[in-house]
Amino acid sequence: MKLFDVYPLQPIELSYGKGTHVFDTNGNEYLDLYGGHAVISIGHNHPHFNDRISDQLQKIPYYSNSVINKIQVELARELGEQSGYTNHNLFLCNSGAEANDNALKIASFHNKKSRLLAFRNSFHGRTSRTLSVTDNPKYRSPMDEYSNVTFLDLNDTRAVKEELSKGDVCAVIIEGIQGVGGINIPENSFLKSLRQLCTDYDTVLILDEIQSGYGRTGKFFAHQYAGIEADIVTVAKGMGNGFPIAGVLISPKVEAFYGMLGTTFGGNHLASAAGLAVLEVLKEEELIPHAARVGNAWMDDLLSLSGVRAVRGKGLMIGIELYEPIKEIRKKLLEKHKILTGVATNPYILRLLPPLSLQESEAERFISCFEDVL
Ligand SMILES: Cc1ncc(COP(=O)(O)O)c(C=O)c1O
Repeated sequence: MKLFDVYPLQPIELSYGKGTHVFDTNGNEYLDLYGGHAVISIGHNHPHFNDRISDQLQKIPYYSNSVINKIQVELARELGEQSGYTNHNLFLCNSGAEANDNALKIASFHNKKSRLLAFRNSFHGRTSRTLSVTDNPKYRSPMDEYSNVTFLDLNDTRAVKEELSKGDVCAVIIEGIQGVGGINIPENSFLKSLRQLCTDYDTVLILDEIQSGYGRTGKFFAHQYAGIEADIVTVAKGMGNGFPIAGVLISPKVEAFYGMLGTTFGGNHLASAAGLAVLEVLKEEELIPHAARVGNAWMDDLLSLSGVRAVRGKGLMIGIELYEPIKEIRKKLLEKHKILTGVATNPYILRLLPPLSLQESEAERFISCFEDVL
């Protein structure tokens, strides 16, 4: 059997990772400014993360959600405390798409409506329902076309109001910062209006923080820059530092009932131990304020480079827009300077999503290498 060929691959095979670096099978060392797609939050091969997982592996790695699991309870408590969402409830699952799929379903269970609002350039996952709110027709099969979704421009408060005032909108789903779409930041004033409008029209506000959450932007969640609270927040990626785990943070006003949601693997003992280890390291190493400090200074330096058209982002979620497509530049960064970077659907944007432990010296190294390839 061969692999189903859906991924264009970079020509390297990795054998080892440590902190902000990965090593290939030929012994080459790479600076990882991609973080395996914003997943590596606390760094590769973190000793505390490894110890917690190994320890749990020796005890009981898995049992289903039919028994008491105190690690889940502890994870929920710690996540509530660190994120400020202390009163929300947590449902654990396995991937970002699954978290968003559940979030949409929870919203519809709650207010019994079914129409959805999403935004142009959005990405919310690859399940059929999450594709319906993802603004990329290329990803959708005929089966994934739903008639009850309306796409609006980001930051267009007037259009949101017009749609919500019809009274039939179940939920609005929005990324804290659009990642795949090219690092597009919703304005604080827009998020504030969105919050108010959702309250006014009995619409559930879902913040997809799968890429922009878990401290990446220098706050636990990107939408917290706007000082708002969402009804539902979805998390994945950095939550497990590579271990598959995701979650849905649900407002206490949503009532749960047995049978409403379910999953075989979600929140199992090993996954919960991994999730808890990540939160412990984020706190212990103060990685969130670190990400804000390093990332914001880095963006100023990046903006001063000639050849750079714009720099957008917050903390360590950064998009660099060039005057030319980034393909060749990205290739040279990899081949000549051994630096891994990310792309976006916009071919002019290079995405930087490094581990939150990135050091200033590493950010500076990128500046000189980037200047060289530019
Ligand atoms: C904002 C956002 N939502 C959802 C997803 C889907 O997550 P997953 O690939 O874990 O299903 C992604 C993945 O890139 C994402 O960036």
